[in-house]
Amino acid sequence: MKLTQDQLASFERDGYLFFPKLFGEAEVNALTDEVPALYAQRRPENVREKTGDVVRTNFAAHMYSAPFARLARHPRMVEPVVQLFGEDVYMHQFKINGKQAFDGDVWQWHQDYGTWRADDLMPEARAMNVAIFLDEVNEFNGPLMFIPGSHKLGVLDAAHDTSTTSYPLWVISKETIEKLVGRGGIVAPKGPAGSMILFHGCLVHASTTNLSPWNRVSVYLSLCAVSNHIRRFKRPGYIAHRDFTPIKCLPDDCLLKHYDVPLPWKNGTPAEELQGALKAA
Ligand code: SIN
Ligand code: MN
Repeated sequence: MKLTQDQLASFERDGYLFFPKLFGEAEVNALTDEVPALYAQRRPENVREKTGDVVRTNFAAHMYSAPFARLARHPRMVEPVVQLFGEDVYMHQFKINGKQAFDGDVWQWHQDYGTWRADDLMPEARAMNVAIFLDEVNEFNGPLMFIPGSHKLGVLDAAHDTSTTSYPLWVISKETIEKLVGRGGIVAPKGPAGSMILFHGCLVHASTTNLSPWNRVSVYLSLCAVSNHIRRFKRPGYIAHRDFTPIKCLPDDCLLKHYDVPLPWKNGTPAEELQGALKAA
C-alpha cells in the first residue's frame, strides 16, 4: 500500500493518518477469534490490569500465534512505514491492548519515542506505531487521543510513572499538556473494527478508562528503521525486541489464506528474552 502525496502532507502536518475500515470483516475475525485464547495464557507476555486478572496488554503474539505472525508481515501495515522511512523496518514491539469493557485502565499522556530513547537507547525517532482496531472504537470505550502537530516538538520532558497503572510509562506533565492542547487541540479517531492508525513516534497521545460495556481491543505494531535499532537491552526481549531482521511482507490476502510463518516462541519464551540486560546490541 502506497501513501499518496496528500496523505504524506497530512502526516507531516498532523503526525498521524487514519484509515477507516481498511481491513474487512473476515480479516478482523481471523485475528479476534485468537484473542481470548491468548489472553487466557499464563505467560509473562500478558500484563494484567492493576485491579485483577483482566489483560491490559499482550506482548509479542507474533512470535507464538499464526494469525498475528501474519499480521506482523501485512503489507497494508508495514509498507507505509517503509515508504516514510525510505528503509526496511524490523519489529521493535508488538502488542494487543485489551482496554476491556469496564476494566480497561488509562494510558497517560506520553510519546512512545520518549520510552524507546530513555529505556532502549533507540538513536532517533525513526520508529512508529501502526494500530488496527479489532473492535469498534467509539467515544465511550477509551479511544486513543492525539494532540495533532505535537510530533514536531521532538522529545518532551517526561517523568517515569511506575504507580498509576500496571505498566511503567514515561509521562508528560499536566502543565505541558495544557499548553500543547491550547495550540493543537485533541483528536480521537473513531471507527469500525478493521480501521488502521499510523502515528509518529513523537506524537503525544493518551487514552481514558473504558467504563463502557464494549471492549476496545487494538493491535499495535511498533516498526523501527533497521539502521535505527536499539542499542540497549534493558527491557525484556518480549517488550523491546532484539532481532533486527528486516520484515519481509506476505501477500495482501495473508489473513484470509494460509501462509507458513515461523512461531519460535510457541512452546514458551526463551529464558534470555525474559530478562533485561544492559548489554549493547
Ligand atoms: C499506547 O499508548 O501504547 C497504547 C494506548 C492505548 O492503547 O490506548
Ligand atoms: Mn503509546
